[in-house]
Amino acid sequence: MRILVTGGTGYIGSHTCVQLIEKGWQPVIIDSLVNSKISVLDRIHQITGTRPAFIEGDVRDAGLLQKVLTEHAIEAVIHFAGLKAVGESVSMPLKYYDNNVHGSLVLMKAMKQCHVKTLVFSSSATVYGDSSEPPWSEHVPTSPTNPYGQSKLMVDQIMADASISDTAWSMTSLRYFNPVGAHPSGLIGEDPQGIPNNLMPFLAQVAVGRREALQVFGNDYPTPDGTGVRDYIHVTDLASGHIAALSYAHGRSGHHVFNLGSGQGISVLQMQRAFSKACGRDLPFVLSPRRAGDVAAYWADPQRAQSTLNWQAKKSIDDMCQDTWRWQSQNPSGYP
Ligand code: NAD
Ligand code: WQD
Repeated sequence: MRILVTGGTGYIGSHTCVQLIEKGWQPVIIDSLVNSKISVLDRIHQITGTRPAFIEGDVRDAGLLQKVLTEHAIEAVIHFAGLKAVGESVSMPLKYYDNNVHGSLVLMKAMKQCHVKTLVFSSSATVYGDSSEPPWSEHVPTSPTNPYGQSKLMVDQIMADASISDTAWSMTSLRYFNPVGAHPSGLIGEDPQGIPNNLMPFLAQVAVGRREALQVFGNDYPTPDGTGVRDYIHVTDLASGHIAALSYAHGRSGHHVFNLGSGQGISVLQMQRAFSKACGRDLPFVLSPRRAGDVAAYWADPQRAQSTLNWQAKKSIDDMCQDTWRWQSQNPSGYP
């Protein structure tokens, strides 16, 4: 299958491209490089022996999309391209709605024009908001608490409506929980610009000496050790979830929604201990006030993906930390 991968040089996209190539499928990447580096392509080549086709461009460029869909005889699209910083989305909502919602609309219209009707979209557990007790199934009411989450939910809704209007569409929303880890080769991984917003890349930068200590945001939550609990999923498990979803959905009409998570909740301090073990030294941390907007605890009910896609997250917290550490220690400043 020839697959257009928007945002394919990004963190999750690059790991998914590796698995697409390993499956014998042909990814064609379009990425504006707004949050990734071109050298990712060399790394994918090193891992797989194949350098995927790459087009530098923006998904909001309708003409370019139509050209790429046609010239590469694309059969399906995996749409990763988007902005993902929750805090920035609060201060720059228009930028987020334009990139994430408008970008997705331009893509879907170009797909329709070119008769490409299979779309797998990067949605997020953040669409569920915080109104329900975990575990969260796909039936949990949605109530995002920030523009980033709203933008994901809007695209999910557009996909649902489009698939009702035309049964030729196969639309799949994958709601990721907290993706972490790196390819076991240490050649590709997460490479945030500036100060990392998220726990795992922050811990990795403490481990490699780029940051002094982890700030633990809150230790008075109603959780076993008082720190926030999340469902971390290894990025290679997440990548294989895309292969499973595409295999299932291609040619199957409707809007399909799947949670991709491990089903297990891990606290901030559990993660700090696991990372300390992986890198062989006790990583310093300071207890700090809660971070605004954070939820105490959530994790996935991944049952639907298990029974329908025959997919399940396999990797442990130790795998996540060891692989992140291998990536970070081999690439202390990220990609060249
Ligand atoms: P990432 O920033 O590493 O990758 C996104 C890629 O999209 C980048 O390479 C960026 O350059 C590109 N991009 C952004 N806007 C673009 C545009 N308009 N046109 C072309 N390219 C564009 O992020 P990621 O962690 O790999 O996330 C991939 C997707 O998954 C995003 O849509 C994100 O919202 C979603 N998601 C991520 C997480 C997470 O925690 N990482 C969780 C849930 C959902
Ligand atoms: C995890 C836990 C923090 C950093 C975010 C997005 C979500 C989704 C995944 C895209 C929390 C604590 C963190 C630090 C800390 N992305 N923490 N010190 O907030 O669960 O989810 O990424 O869709 O939409 O919101 O992830 O890694 O930031 O936080 O104590 O320096 O670690 O308070 O309990 P989060 P995170």
